[in-house]
Amino acid sequence: MSSVSPIRRGTVRGVAGRPELRHPVNEASPDIAHTVAALRETVSGWRAAGETVALVPTMGALHDGHMALVERALANADRTVVSIFVNPTQFSPSEDLDNYPRTEAEDLLKLAAVGVDLAFMPSAAEMYVPGATTTVTVGGLSDGLCGAMRPHFFGGVATIVTKLLLQCLPDQAIFGEKDYQQLQVIRQMARDLDIPVEIVGAPTVREADGLALSSRNAYLTPAERCIAPVMHQTLLEMADRLTGDDTASIGAIISAGWQTLEKAGFQEIEYLALCDASTLAPLSRIDAPARLLVGAWLGETRLIDNILVDVPTGD
Ligand code: PAJ
Repeated sequence: MSSVSPIRRGTVRGVAGRPELRHPVNEASPDIAHTVAALRETVSGWRAAGETVALVPTMGALHDGHMALVERALANADRTVVSIFVNPTQFSPSEDLDNYPRTEAEDLLKLAAVGVDLAFMPSAAEMYVPGATTTVTVGGLSDGLCGAMRPHFFGGVATIVTKLLLQCLPDQAIFGEKDYQQLQVIRQMARDLDIPVEIVGAPTVREADGLALSSRNAYLTPAERCIAPVMHQTLLEMADRLTGDDTASIGAIISAGWQTLEKAGFQEIEYLALCDASTLAPLSRIDAPARLLVGAWLGETRLIDNILVDVPTGD
């Protein structure tokens, strides 16, 4: 189990010419690495002591969904690193990178409270050195669903997550099923590139009414916030129909779900699909683990959600 070692906390590592860690001024923060060199030096120290390492990549504005991933990391490894980096390459010019919520002080308090060992908080210049031209593209999986609407997105995610994994070289990296397509893209990328890390998926954390926690929920007006849980309810109803005695076709069940969302007030439904849980190929019958996935706009806010659809056993 991870705990913050007082010996490590007090150790001065900023010897001339060596990477420097910024040490916490008080117990309201874990150790912070702002450079790749500092991250690597800390992780190497843990490795030399035979300790295991888990990484939780985030863009900050931490909520209970992120913290569930952190708890998982703390339980699974001796040492936990949480990266906080609002990655510019996964935002298109029309998406407002500058308005992405940044709550650094609160985030560090939350990480300190649970005993995270290191926060990795690089600058954009540290992560993208001038002249860098290499990107990671995960073919197939990145193309549909969210990728069809945001063509820049998964390239940006795959590139930054590859870099984070190679910088930290953790035993495990934890990602949320909330962003299910992202999770599958990252699994494929780690497999294809032989990155020696176990990618762990953690269940979606939801509000009591079923709305998946997201930093974007803060943008919903009170009226939209009342409508938002219909997204998860609709997926549950569709899954019931798909796995029960309902004789309607998959296409008919998807059309009915689409209408329910429109009637509730979702303006632009980008996709509502039943897909193979690992390849995300659309399914015309459920003969393998399946996932229902949805992306839709409520006012100015884009929400996504997904759930597992259990394969009927036939007995
Ligand atoms: P971010 O949106 O900050 O999410 C960080 C991690 O938290 C992701 O793995 C995401 O799936 C997970 N997460 C978000 N909401 C969740 C919820 N309600 N329940 C469980 N997990 C949840 O996703 C990203 O950042 C970025 O794309 C990143 C992977 C860090 C690359 O930049």
